[in-house]
Amino acid sequence: MSADSQRKKFTVPQLSLVKGASRRLSMVTAYDATFAFIVDSGGVDLILVGDSVATVMQGQRNTLGVSMEHMEYHVQMVASAKPLALIVGDLPFGSYQTSVSDAVHNSVRLIKAGAEIVKLEGGVHIAEQITAITNADIPVMGHIGLTPQSYHRMGGNKIQGRTEGDGAGSKERLMDDALAVQEAGACAVVIEGVPSDLARTITDTLTIPTIGIGAGAHCDGQVLVMHDLLGLSPRTFTFAKPYVQLREQAQQAVAQYVSEVQSGAWPDAEHSFS
Ligand code: KIV
Repeated sequence: MSADSQRKKFTVPQLSLVKGASRRLSMVTAYDATFAFIVDSGGVDLILVGDSVATVMQGQRNTLGVSMEHMEYHVQMVASAKPLALIVGDLPFGSYQTSVSDAVHNSVRLIKAGAEIVKLEGGVHIAEQITAITNADIPVMGHIGLTPQSYHRMGGNKIQGRTEGDGAGSKERLMDDALAVQEAGACAVVIEGVPSDLARTITDTLTIPTIGIGAGAHCDGQVLVMHDLLGLSPRTFTFAKPYVQLREQAQQAVAQYVSEVQSGAWPDAEHSFS
């Protein structure tokens, strides 16, 4: 059941309508059809098939090992749920940094798999790729600030925008990145892991919507990784709120099943055939 039975398919042109509006955008990650259905029926505007699949599904330390084949597979699974939410496909590390033609080629692959907009990380240095992808008529979402694919450069997943100067991750550079992403043609941008004041200044400066994660309350929208929202993650993070504790509930359910199997209480007559 949808949270709103009048809800219609969310489309790319609608992104621009929320800029500066009081009604914020909501985005949640999903990686398969079952959970795409669950988050979609909760009423989200966008489903992000994120390369966070590496950490929350594959058990990796960072997102760097995700391949195009992995992303195509997960985008296909989410698309098969036919969500009303817009499907955002994440371009994995190495699929667009290498060249402009790789960026266009791999964006086409994600669209063919079922994505409706592609997301990539970076600002000034990736602007050429964003322009080329949008020129191929593929909508692009940028991602600046704490960009997990810059894991080694940042020395881990570290909050950005706290330093002065023009080096990568500095306050000034993040504003330049935001403007470069917009100028290159992106229709929205994720701001991750930056102080709220800076995210607010960027949001007030840009004409495209900003979607924050660990970036405070002033962005035009918010995104959370589904495992953090549903309490499926083994860890909790300052920037994330578990709205339910599914990990604990699932563990309890399995423990009860094991105990009933061991005692012979399962299966009972109601669940058996005569
Ligand atoms: O891959 C992902 O889940 C993301 C979000 C954290 C924005 O990029």
